[in-house]
Amino acid sequence: MFDLAPETKADWWEVEALYDLCFAPGREALSSYRLRDGVAPVAALCLVARDEGRILAGAIRVWPVRIGPARALLVGPIAVHPTRQGEGLGGYLIREALRIGQEAGWDRAMLVGDAPYYQRFGFARLDKVKMPPPTNPERVLGIALTPGAWDGIAGKVMRDA
Ligand SMILES: CC(C)(COP(=O)(O)OP(=O)(O)OC[C@H]1O[C@@H](n2cnc3c(N)ncnc32)[C@H](O)[C@@H]1OP(=O)(O)O)[C@@H](O)C(=O)NCCC(=O)NCCS
Repeated sequence: MFDLAPETKADWWEVEALYDLCFAPGREALSSYRLRDGVAPVAALCLVARDEGRILAGAIRVWPVRIGPARALLVGPIAVHPTRQGEGLGGYLIREALRIGQEAGWDRAMLVGDAPYYQRFGFARLDKVKMPPPTNPERVLGIALTPGAWDGIAGKVMRDA
């Protein structure tokens, strides 16, 4: 029903418009955006979902970050158009991005989000990993893409510059 494909330059403004629709105004003031400034996203993991009419229904972008020497995927923003929410598309985008990241050799992924939603994909609180303030530490979540990949990782999340 939905066709997933890597985001291209031609998709960029449509994805921005979807994010503007789905997030509160001022989304780019969030601290997670400071980790993305001037850093190229992980292109293979930035996906757009289009329906049979080629209408954009959802999108996910992913950036690289570092915690000390450890590299991680910072998953998001992810958004599904309000008319397409609750059909499983958000889960499809997240699982596909994680699967492609795992296949590409990434060991771990993290995000800032609602634990009640993301725990179903295996994300759990990272209590030793600090996002730039102001971030609610309860919303800092991670998933190991190789077993134990978050073990012993602690400290500030930094731009992968
Ligand atoms: C969050 C979002 C991407 C989920 O996409 P989706 O396609 O609706 O999600 P799915 O269909 O895979 O899953 C729907 C389920 O997740 C639940 N859910 C959605 N958002 C949730 C949240 N913030 N907290 C808890 N549960 C949530 C729904 O209630 C539904 O539950 P059910 O399976 O028991 O019915 C989408 O709602 C969205 O774009 N929201 C606005 C932007 C946003 O908040 N992005 C995430 C930032 S962290």
